[in-house]
Amino acid sequence: MLPEAKSFGHLAESISLISREKRCKLAWLSHRIQCKEFITTGLSQAKNFESILVLGSGPLHEIPIENLSRTFKKVVLVDIVHLKATRESVAHLTNIEFVEHEISEIESSLKNEKALIEKIPGAFQNIDWGLVLSVNVMSQLPLHLASYIKKKLKNKFSDEEVQKFLERVTVNHLLFLNAFRCPVILITDVETTYTDKNEAILQNDINYTHLTFPKTTEQWIWNVAPIPEFDKNIGMKMLVSAFVLNSIK
Ligand SMILES: C[S@@+](CC[C@H](N)C(=O)[O-])C[C@H]1O[C@@H](n2cnc3c(N)ncnc32)[C@H](O)[C@@H]1O
Repeated sequence: MLPEAKSFGHLAESISLISREKRCKLAWLSHRIQCKEFITTGLSQAKNFESILVLGSGPLHEIPIENLSRTFKKVVLVDIVHLKATRESVAHLTNIEFVEHEISEIESSLKNEKALIEKIPGAFQNIDWGLVLSVNVMSQLPLHLASYIKKKLKNKFSDEEVQKFLERVTVNHLLFLNAFRCPVILITDVETTYTDKNEAILQNDINYTHLTFPKTTEQWIWNVAPIPEFDKNIGMKMLVSAFVLNSIK
């Protein structure tokens, strides 16, 4: 396991995601179906059917894995943590490869150099993928960095420096996706809404005011935290956008 999986809280988060998923199964079902359907429809845009790269594959709740396995000769699943249960759930599929990789490629430098270094990730770019998927991982990248800075590097940087650094992480994820020479499906939350018990909106946050996205292909609501998952009086929903980036070059 990569050292960052523990030091940046990914392992704990992956374990808790499994139990959250059990508690929220019904609330998350339509989101999971929407993700799988969007990906399934997008398969026809693949440049070739040799291999597909899945970024943020996690427990594979949102990935039509059987279909990917049938459609491509090789399926490469990338996440910082691959739990044993996930590996076992696809053990019957012989063309799946698990890769442990830190997708922002800056956690180790933050930890070792204690510096806010900016980087456009470069991994996986030299392979002729048929299709690349980034599935609900983009918004997670700055979150783990932010909590690490808050816990371990408190007062070392100004709030403005941290904010700018975190914004560059998502900008650089988009640049990373755009650099693949094949179509890329990006699924990410773009807005977060907090509601009370009567579903009245208490607050609505735009998640990426610093980013310009291409035209959204589809949008849906993910009921991420129905009351009382995060708070006994407040529920949280997200607007999820799905895009196809990069026409075939
Ligand atoms: C919301 S979950 C995505 C769930 C997944 N798409 C599925 O189908 O179940 C976010 C995933 O991003 C992964 N992740 C978060 N930050 C990461 C990073 N810096 N590098 C690699 N994976 C990361 C987490 O481990 C988690 O599996």
